[in-house]
Amino acid sequence: MKFFVDTADVAAISELHDLGMVDGVTTNPSLILKSGRNILEVTKEICDIVPGPVSAEVVALKADDMIAEGRKLAEIAENIAVKLPLTWDGLKACKVLSDEGRMVNVTLCFSANQALLAAKAGATFISPFIGRLDDINVDGLELISDIRIIYDNYGFETQILAASIRTVNHVADVARIGADVMTAPPEVIRKLASHPLTDAGLAQFTKDWAQTGQTIL
Ligand code: G3P
Repeated sequence: MKFFVDTADVAAISELHDLGMVDGVTTNPSLILKSGRNILEVTKEICDIVPGPVSAEVVALKADDMIAEGRKLAEIAENIAVKLPLTWDGLKACKVLSDEGRMVNVTLCFSANQALLAAKAGATFISPFIGRLDDINVDGLELISDIRIIYDNYGFETQILAASIRTVNHVADVARIGADVMTAPPEVIRKLASHPLTDAGLAQFTKDWAQTGQTIL
């Protein structure tokens, strides 16, 4: 499963990228707001660090305007994936931009039927939001499973990009189901390394080592 990092924080992306943990990046208008940066400038910086797909989201609501914004965002770098909302206009824009050979990430997906439409419109990625479904007592993981089954039934090549990941358990869960990609905030990716038994084991080893009186270097 590919790891995308869900942030516009260049320092965090850079740190995780140096560790080999970043196959791509996803951003959205809320993350651009949080970064306090200009969308074109910060996205260019991210693309200079990460060679994999970097999703940059349009903000227009009408298909023609989305297409124009998408083309402008795609000029930033070759690895831009234009992010479009899963609306009828978004699907129209998806078809046009995909036919032009651009990567498209269709976002704000909350149902299997929506995912089916995005695949038919030629999306490169579909982004089902797990956490936001969990927020309203709907099983987000079940949606990932349903989309996996449907795409496999018909050989759709659209990649399932599990988004709105809030917990470390979400990551293992979507990997088990077979999501192609997951995108998570940097803090969730860092937490994947944590385990209390690792901490306890290391504390014991450190204590015992001190008693040997030895050094390695
Ligand atoms: O990738 C989509 C993601 O940014 C949404 O996450 O936590 O705002 O639901 P969240």
